[in-house]
Amino acid sequence: MDMNNVNIEEIVKQVLAGMSGNASAPSKAAPAPSTGSIPKTARVAMLTALEHYDIKEFPIPPVGDDDILVKVEGCGICGTDAHEFKRDPFSLIPVALGHEGTGEIVAMGKNVKADTAGKPVKIGDKVVTCMIFKDDPDITMYDLNKKNVGGADVYGLLPDDDIHLNGWFSDYIYIRGGSFGSTFFNVSDLDLDSRILIEPSAVLVHAVERAKTTGILRFNSRVVVQGCGPIGLICIAVLRTMGIENICAVDGEQKRLDFAKRMGASMTVNFKDHKGIEALAGAVKDAFGGHLADFAFQCTGSPVAHSNIYKFIRNGGGLCELGFFINGGDATINPHFDICSKEITTVGSWVYTLRDYATTFDFLKRAKGIGLPMSDLITDRFPLEEINEAHKTNLAMTGLKIAIINK
Ligand SMILES: NC(=O)c1ccc[n+]([C@@H]2O[C@H](COP(=O)([O-])OP(=O)(O)OC[C@H]3O[C@@H](n4cnc5c(N)ncnc54)[C@H](O)[C@@H]3O)[C@@H](O)[C@H]2O)c1
Ligand SMILES: [Zn+2]
Repeated sequence: MDMNNVNIEEIVKQVLAGMSGNASAPSKAAPAPSTGSIPKTARVAMLTALEHYDIKEFPIPPVGDDDILVKVEGCGICGTDAHEFKRDPFSLIPVALGHEGTGEIVAMGKNVKADTAGKPVKIGDKVVTCMIFKDDPDITMYDLNKKNVGGADVYGLLPDDDIHLNGWFSDYIYIRGGSFGSTFFNVSDLDLDSRILIEPSAVLVHAVERAKTTGILRFNSRVVVQGCGPIGLICIAVLRTMGIENICAVDGEQKRLDFAKRMGASMTVNFKDHKGIEALAGAVKDAFGGHLADFAFQCTGSPVAHSNIYKFIRNGGGLCELGFFINGGDATINPHFDICSKEITTVGSWVYTLRDYATTFDFLKRAKGIGLPMSDLITDRFPLEEINEAHKTNLAMTGLKIAIINK
């Protein structure tokens, strides 16, 4: 080797790539435009065993022509992360988790010009990732109405590989472009809390889109939202920003019902105050001044709650079931009384399409605009090094949305 012509930077990059056993390193290592100084390594919270994260340090790979390096600002903990933490149902351990994250572009390849919606991007812009369409990298926003996230990958639930910087519970995340099929959005016009709430909010934008397909949900509808965890509370917020005012929230936790009121529910019913389904349905009817609901959103993972909800809905009403993201077991209903004779129209709703993301950005601006307490949904904030404690707090269910916030 002619030492006179050695490019020291290139050697460092090669050594770093070698350290990570980098078989699928980004193709080109052209010096990418970058902001400030990018460290050589990044901390990544890896779930290495059940209920245990290790903070690992990995080299930051050179940024390829189609790729983006993002400095993570924060990431919410999702129910899916809780399932992975407890049971690893997707058999991903060791895995870099965190998919409700956001951060700032610090370096990007020369081919990166715009986000998935066509909005220009530059260093310093704030972004979120959405799905990874490996099988269909050329998919456009117009096709995406049809494509649910089911079947697509997401950062934060990828099998570990030589890059390692694949989840948002980290200092940096490496977004791969080209045929990798990543989608991402420039959301620089949203504050940090709103950006952390994009992913869970998209679930409710999608649920309301599904509800609208029944033709039953209207401005003046009487709507029940059953379950006032983050999902039910954001459901209320989406309905309020649409101008729906007649909302009755049902839960067993008074603190959550109080939050539902702040979020815009006009009435609340605590199921613990009513013995038996007849009494509970009577309480919902009383809350609506002697009427049953026109439409109901089922936002719990409880089979009993699914069985109950039909009793809150009027003849010819509608139901959106979105609480069973995972298999929570069978629920008993009476097909005659609950569906057939009442002519109830039911839709299921599961995650979202990419198109729902764009709608979600507007929803979050409107929610802030009408003064809904969205930021208060994030009740606990932990630094990355306390990720195990953060997950335990999430499991204890003392708060609502738990987030990792980087310094
Ligand atoms: N459809 C989707 O794509 C999707 C996405 C994310 C989450 N989810 C599901 O939505 C559900 C809610 O999520 P979350 O994060 O708000 O959960 P959460 O556990 O924080 O909230 C559930 C709420 O339901 C209440 N509840 C339980 N049993 C009830 C009953 N019988 N009647 C009324 N209320 C009852 C609880 O007190 C709690 O406040 C979960 O089951 C989750 O898996 C679905
Ligand atoms: Zn999630």
